[in-house]
Amino acid sequence: MSRFTLPRDVYHGKGALEALKTFEGKRAIICTGGGSMKRGGFLQKVEAYLKEAGMEVELFEGIESDPSVETVMKGAEAMSKFQPDWIVAIGGGSPIDAAKAMWIKYEYPDTTFEDMCKVFGLPKLRTKAKFCAISSTSGTATEVTAFSIITDYQKGIKFPIADFEITPDVAIVDPELAHTMPKKLVAHTGMDAMTHAVEAYVSTANCDYTDPLAIHAIEMIMDNLVKSYNEDMDARDAMHNAQCLAGMAFSNALLGIVHSMAHKTGAVFADLGAHIIHGAANAMYLPKVVAFNAKDPTAKKRYGVIADYMHLGGSNDDEKVKLLIDYLRKMNDDLNIPHCIAHYGADGLPAEQGFVPENVFLERLHDIAANAILDACTGSNPRQPSQEEMEKLLKCCYYDTEVDF
Ligand SMILES: NC(=O)c1ccc[n+]([C@@H]2O[C@H](COP(=O)([O-])OP(=O)(O)OC[C@H]3O[C@@H](n4cnc5c(N)ncnc54)[C@H](O)[C@@H]3O)[C@@H](O)[C@H]2O)c1
Ligand SMILES: [Zn+2]
Repeated sequence: MSRFTLPRDVYHGKGALEALKTFEGKRAIICTGGGSMKRGGFLQKVEAYLKEAGMEVELFEGIESDPSVETVMKGAEAMSKFQPDWIVAIGGGSPIDAAKAMWIKYEYPDTTFEDMCKVFGLPKLRTKAKFCAISSTSGTATEVTAFSIITDYQKGIKFPIADFEITPDVAIVDPELAHTMPKKLVAHTGMDAMTHAVEAYVSTANCDYTDPLAIHAIEMIMDNLVKSYNEDMDARDAMHNAQCLAGMAFSNALLGIVHSMAHKTGAVFADLGAHIIHGAANAMYLPKVVAFNAKDPTAKKRYGVIADYMHLGGSNDDEKVKLLIDYLRKMNDDLNIPHCIAHYGADGLPAEQGFVPENVFLERLHDIAANAILDACTGSNPRQPSQEEMEKLLKCCYYDTEVDF
């Protein structure tokens, strides 16, 4: 038996934010990040609409990018005090993911972070509150997914919490929120969405329900991401929907080792002063993983189908895989994303000398590879890598060398 779960309601299109006026409840807590939503005037609108719906409203602000376990615990405490029956999270993937984890702790105060990370092991939520997610970036699709990514900074590792219990009740996909994104954020989150769609399509858990969503998302991202990056706002609107469709696909078909590697490299060099931003990590690793996975005959065929939908040409699957890899790399060039960790600057842009020195990378390689294999996203990858293969793959992602194994 398979399960396909989405939020009960997805309000989309310009003005979708106004759906908040129709919510029923007594108290709503709004969870948000560092200030971009306030600067854009969206936070004020959310607050006003919820008040118009007759609710008492409290704010939990300042959720950082790549949110920590500590932030989750703090937010849950605020919820315990306020006793909301609606949790409304607005912003990028970070504040929404943090709010999802806060929700678990709010409903079950004795739950530890370790408990939360047991894959598909959460108790029933919604005994205290329902959850609405409003996305302001066009990538993670956390507004429709069963995932939340929280970073344990003591271990330097991102842990995915995965359970349909945390699939939001309501998603609001209003493209106006995405208009204020700076170009680099458009690039990174857009390639995150592309990775979601491609990984979902070749995942071992793909099915007839997820395939059309993944393929249509890929076509839309191909047509719109670079245009959106170059400030075409109609394309930006289309990307907000495309990333959501990709999310509907991967929330049910799961992901693969591009994400395992991104989760385990994202914060592991934080002591050197920077993160490898999630979307940029995916963008760099995806072409390498396509080459690695294409050694699996089923995955190769599926990459061939993707290439066909993208009209890339090629007369056999080997040629199609090569054309797909070339296309993804060209997207990175068009979006000013580096091809490998060695050239990944502290600001996320291509640099002659990246912020992760070779010796530090090699010192940490064994552990990063071991942790990536253990990541919750590895299980549904079409090819299961050994420790040695994962280390080799990560080296290709560091040096931008060809994957021939
Ligand atoms: N839950 C999931 O299914 C899922 C999937 C993929 C990634 N993730 C996680 O999501 C996080 C990344 O989320 P993200 O890429 O959305 O970025 P983010 O939420 O970390 O935000 C990045 C920055 O962009 C700013 N920002 C957000 N929206 C903006 C807007 N409209 N205009 C101007 N600035 C804006 C934020 O204030 C922040 O400074 C990572 O922790 C990643 O691991 C989660
Ligand atoms: Zn992602």
